[in-house]
Amino acid sequence: MWNKARDGIKLLMTAGPVEISPRVLSALAQPAIYHYYKGFVDLFEETTEKMAKVFQANMGELDTLILQGEGVLGLEAAVVCTVNPGEKVLVFENGPFGKWFGDYVKNVGAEPVYFHEDTNRGFDTSKAIEFLERNQDAVAMTLVHCETPAGLLNPPVELCRKAKSLNMLTIVDCVASIGGAEFLPGAWGIDLAIGASQKCLSSAAGLTPMTVSKFAWEMMEKRKKNPVRVSYLSLLDWKDTWLQSKKFPFTPFTAEVNGLSAALDEILEEGLDNVIQRHKEVSQYVRKRAMEIGLKLWPLEEKFCSPTITALSLPERVDDARLIQDVAKRYGILIGGGYRELKGKVLRIGHMGYSAHMPFVSATMDALESVLKSYN
Ligand SMILES: Cc1ncc(COP(=O)(O)O)c(C=O)c1O
Repeated sequence: MWNKARDGIKLLMTAGPVEISPRVLSALAQPAIYHYYKGFVDLFEETTEKMAKVFQANMGELDTLILQGEGVLGLEAAVVCTVNPGEKVLVFENGPFGKWFGDYVKNVGAEPVYFHEDTNRGFDTSKAIEFLERNQDAVAMTLVHCETPAGLLNPPVELCRKAKSLNMLTIVDCVASIGGAEFLPGAWGIDLAIGASQKCLSSAAGLTPMTVSKFAWEMMEKRKKNPVRVSYLSLLDWKDTWLQSKKFPFTPFTAEVNGLSAALDEILEEGLDNVIQRHKEVSQYVRKRAMEIGLKLWPLEEKFCSPTITALSLPERVDDARLIQDVAKRYGILIGGGYRELKGKVLRIGHMGYSAHMPFVSATMDALESVLKSYN
């Protein structure tokens, strides 16, 4: 089918949205259905159960929600619904999405206290733990698992377990890792884990799957400045409606739910462990090919690299916009450039979900190599 927006692009290897499989595309194109018709309520329930399996939510008695709106809705809601004005929140930050959490904290009139690291390295665990200990009066901490703009994976487990031992709420952005890297919110002490439908889950943008712990619900209910309710951002509205009586707070996107349901079937049929292994293998291949071509990884060490996206230092005297355009025009493959403060510094190859298959990544690296050679 002719698609004006794709304009000759045959393969999406960006930071997300990524390629969507034919089966998920056909699910997204199903006719509309009234959302209180039993068939849709059942579908929403099944999709939530499948999402809970991908989150392995049973490990921590977490509730799983699927909010209507892409990742930022869940990220903002996580902060707005739990944090009171004047409270202190610890923000781990080594890239643009880490910083965003700090902005949400400021928006509610609370005080972000940053643990900063450069965008090309992960956090030093012992220093991070000292930081948590020094700031025990904080009510919450935030962390981005995969900092997509920098191609980093920040392991949450030690930090979140420490924060829990200090009675803090732990909020983790797994937008670019859920379904592509090991992520166990229940076992790792994560109170609010926030994903997105358009990255490793490989459906369309528009839904925020997330998990919520009992501790997080309690914090929302105790929120001094009135618990957030009757709002698009209200997680308690979802609790009162969907979790308690299988009602919706507003009309859900039925097509999006069809798409996510099919995408989750694909993941669960392949096996979550196999899917995670595939992302790992594909990312190792991309890094190896990149280094063979003479490109440098943006993260200083391979141990910091995410299995879902590779950020490469933009070679000297190469214009990123021209390179991306040449790869797109000559090969029909769209790769990514830098985002925010990393603009003009990095190139990015997303290998998430359906895009994380060897034929796609090898074609992408061939195209990149050939275009770079043509500049010599
Ligand atoms: C780590 C991370 N967090 C949050 C977002 C924002 O998510 P969305 O675009 O789904 O709102 C992105 C998008 O690229 C991301 O990579």
